[in-house]
Amino acid sequence: MPIVTSTEMFKKAYEGGYAIGAFNVNNMEIIQGITEAAKEENAPLILQVSAGARKYANHTYLMKLIEAAVIETDLPIVVHLDHGEDFEICKSCIDGGFTSVMIDGSAHSFEENIRLTKQVVDYAHDRGVVVEGELGRLAGVEDDINVSDEDASYTKPEQVQEFVEKTGVDSLAIAIGTSHGAYKFQGEAKLRFDILEEIGKLVPGFPIVLHGASSVIPEYVEMINKFGGNMPGAQGVPEEMLRKAASLSVCKINIDSDIRLAMTGTIRKHFAENPGDFDPRKYLAPARSAIKDLVRNKLVNVLGCNNKI
Ligand code: G3H
Ligand code: 13P
Ligand code: ZN
Repeated sequence: MPIVTSTEMFKKAYEGGYAIGAFNVNNMEIIQGITEAAKEENAPLILQVSAGARKYANHTYLMKLIEAAVIETDLPIVVHLDHGEDFEICKSCIDGGFTSVMIDGSAHSFEENIRLTKQVVDYAHDRGVVVEGELGRLAGVEDDINVSDEDASYTKPEQVQEFVEKTGVDSLAIAIGTSHGAYKFQGEAKLRFDILEEIGKLVPGFPIVLHGASSVIPEYVEMINKFGGNMPGAQGVPEEMLRKAASLSVCKINIDSDIRLAMTGTIRKHFAENPGDFDPRKYLAPARSAIKDLVRNKLVNVLGCNNKI
């Protein structure tokens, strides 16, 4: 099975009322944990790479690790650029073998977002690569960019059809109240499902993407806090809200923070219990297992994409 695009995956997910998991990857153990889980659950998969991940691990290393995972698992895997901020990074990822890129023009005006997104779409489609755009702005931290709550804005449904038609994008990330990172809500979690439902009516059959979709699993936050960390007030998107989004038009659900928390909690616990360890395999192996367990649970109990190959 080669690396694939998300076209078929999204079509089946839309029709089946489930979503594909898009997990951020930064190193070998993360890639192994995610892909071993997907293999056991017979699930299609999107592995996504941010600009920060490319800077940290290097494009070629990540590409070759993902190619190794494809060989080992024989799964359909999409390699996706997460939050591409300009044409150049999208071009570099397309030229470097990615099958999907996101151009995140959400910080620009509507007109400039359309122009930039269309430029990427034209280049990508000529090369068989698919493109995710973004309309509306999430709060939270991505790389060095910190979007404050005041600068965040919900997607305007009335702009969606024009954006999709003028750009030719294959999927669209929207803002309905989620945010990046581990502090998504103060108090009760609220998402604007009315906006999602309106968009679904305006562009029926078109795949929507939900960013900032970690649930910030309490078990791992508690583990971090118990073993020397300090994350008061960490809170994510309740799983039943993700299930609801997946049953509507959301075909791709982005998860990064939960992986970070599982990895960090497990490593903190390991060192608290084994202060003398200095072999990285001793603490990275349990972290990899924790990622695998976490992803299996997401695939089966949240996304519903198990046994969908
Ligand atoms: O949306 C952001 C993702 O969580 C990636 O985070 O830019 O720190 O790699 P990063
Ligand atoms: P989380 O921070 O909720 O995991 O969101 C990740 C994301 O949206 C990556 O693009
Ligand atoms: Zn995101």
